Amino acid sequence: MNFAPSPIRPARSFLFVPADSEKKLLKGAGTAADALILDLEDAVAPSRTHIARGMALEYLRAHADRSKQQLWVRINPLDTQAALLDLVVTAGAPDGLMLPKTRSAAEVVRLSNFLDALEVREGVAQGSIRIMPVATETPQSLFTLGSYEGCSARLAGVTWGAEDIAAALGASTNRRPDGEYDTVYQLAGALCLTAAHAASVQPIDTIWTDFKDDAGLLRDSQRGRQRGFTGKMAIHPGQVDIINAAFSPSAEELAWSRRVVELFESNPGMGTIGLEGKMLDMPHLKQAQRVLALAARFASS
Ligand code: COA
Ligand code: MG
Repeated sequence: MNFAPSPIRPARSFLFVPADSEKKLLKGAGTAADALILDLEDAVAPSRTHIARGMALEYLRAHADRSKQQLWVRINPLDTQAALLDLVVTAGAPDGLMLPKTRSAAEVVRLSNFLDALEVREGVAQGSIRIMPVATETPQSLFTLGSYEGCSARLAGVTWGAEDIAAALGASTNRRPDGEYDTVYQLAGALCLTAAHAASVQPIDTIWTDFKDDAGLLRDSQRGRQRGFTGKMAIHPGQVDIINAAFSPSAEELAWSRRVVELFESNPGMGTIGLEGKMLDMPHLKQAQRVLALAARFASS
């Protein structure tokens, strides 16, 4: 189908909320999460999936104003019957669907085709429902991360997980003795980051599972942003403010970026300039412009 969806607003924090929990849905709405992910997959017991679907749809309909908080739904893997039943939530016009356990971009294309039909049937704006794959959860996926570029105008981000791939590989742990992710999972994160940038969409970093370890979350979030991730998933309301802060520019970063941009503006024609003993060239200007754009976007939050 030929349509041009309006650009999606980038988000720093995506908070998972099990969609069968009234209490958590209520709580999620009160957080500063840029997006909630109403979960129909791993956080919901299979015996309650049908309840979760109904509650997710009701929640979407009751929260039509998405200007403060986007509403995403994580559906089941596309090769399951559950996923097809999950698509009932399209009637609530979610901002996007998170697609777990993908093998390649072909699944994004397939889901996108389903959405083309469902949006028309449900009277939802065409092209408005975005897609974000959890693109590292199957063994096949690590070999296809280069396939996302240009696969669908609905693609809004790429994210990764280290739990399901570990289970698929028969690993009893995904960590090294020092607590860092083992090589396979570091590779998954790195490939997710490059896949998202290759496709010009948001790279969203994986969860920090120890939700009582705020210092660890802060370190992990800051490192993620330094590596080029633009947002992160959360599993607990207490993680949201830490993630938002880590993925927003600091006052020093802002001041530095303003100086870099001004310096290049006042020296047109110069490709490389010195500032406080540091060499600046085009990549630095680009990074400074990115920081200023990010600050402008989240100025009011
Ligand atoms: N979204 C919204 N509210 C949440 C929440 C979440 N993800 N996680 C916890 N809360 C609420 C709790 O209901 C509790 O509310 P209350 O103060 O009204 O009682 C409050 O926040 C504090 O929660 P806490 O007691 O610290 O945690 P818990 O033991 O109730 O829950 C988890 C721990 C991990 C089960 C819970 O955080 C959770 O469900 N996380 C999401 C899991 C998920 O979706 N996983 C899939 C992606 S990997
Ligand atoms: Mg999972």
